[in-house]
Amino acid sequence: MPCLFLPPYYPGFDRDLRWRTGVKIVPVHCDSSSNFEITPQALEKAYNEAESMNIKVRGVLMTNPSNPLGATIKRSTLEEILEFVTRKNIHLVSDEIYSGSTFSGEEFVSVAEVLEAQNYKDSERVHIVYSLSKDLGLPGFRVGTIYSYNDKVVTTARRMSSFTLISSQTQQLLASMLSDETFTANYIKTNRERLKKRYQMIIDGLRNSGIECLKGNAGLFCWMNLSPLLEEPTKESELILWKSMLHEVKLNISPGSSCHCSDPGWFRVCFREYE
Ligand SMILES: Cc1ncc(COP(=O)(O)O)c(C=O)c1O
Repeated sequence: MPCLFLPPYYPGFDRDLRWRTGVKIVPVHCDSSSNFEITPQALEKAYNEAESMNIKVRGVLMTNPSNPLGATIKRSTLEEILEFVTRKNIHLVSDEIYSGSTFSGEEFVSVAEVLEAQNYKDSERVHIVYSLSKDLGLPGFRVGTIYSYNDKVVTTARRMSSFTLISSQTQQLLASMLSDETFTANYIKTNRERLKKRYQMIIDGLRNSGIECLKGNAGLFCWMNLSPLLEEPTKESELILWKSMLHEVKLNISPGSSCHCSDPGWFRVCFREYE
């Protein structure tokens, strides 16, 4: 099942989505000239390229807020993406795993809010995925959700869930934690404050060293531009720089090419919140 992916994207999608299911990935090219924002033209171009290779596109997959960009997708862009999938009669999967980790600027807008605001009639084509791994820092719990407007998807997911049941101890702990509204409100607030502080610290440090970053407002990432340090503007030079940082400085900072970024020289710095 071929899908258009909005790059740069989380490298784990190659493993999680492609290897088992055989989904083909058609990247939509967006680059630094448009601040990596997706445009209707880029979507159309990727779709036409796929068609010319006899690939029948079935859907668009996006991550909002984005990993690796560390930024939310604007409401107007979400509207354009929704308009595109409607026109092409394909599905839209929105991975909103970092939705509780926005920390400044424009707030996060879920595609669900866009559907509601537009009183959108064709919502069976829209599916939202979420997990507690990021916002609650609980990756080991293996708890996630599919919020789909499509009964067939929900029924299939319910049946499949028998193979990945969540232990009753985990359910009990989460139910008591998440039903404590004072705790959750305080947790999200504190988490946001700490992420903001850490993000600011990193971009200030990088800026003092002459390194610019894409303006971020969410998640655990900073998307930094090391292209001035490349010998040549190529993926090969990017990987040479990545290796020298890894072996000499002992820092593993994901190269943009691992996220299928078409602009050489961009890297993803990961961070955690702190006090
Ligand atoms: C965008 C995105 N989706 C999904 C995942 C996978 O999360 P989980 O640990 O819940 O499997 C990650 C993890 O890094 C991610 O960044």
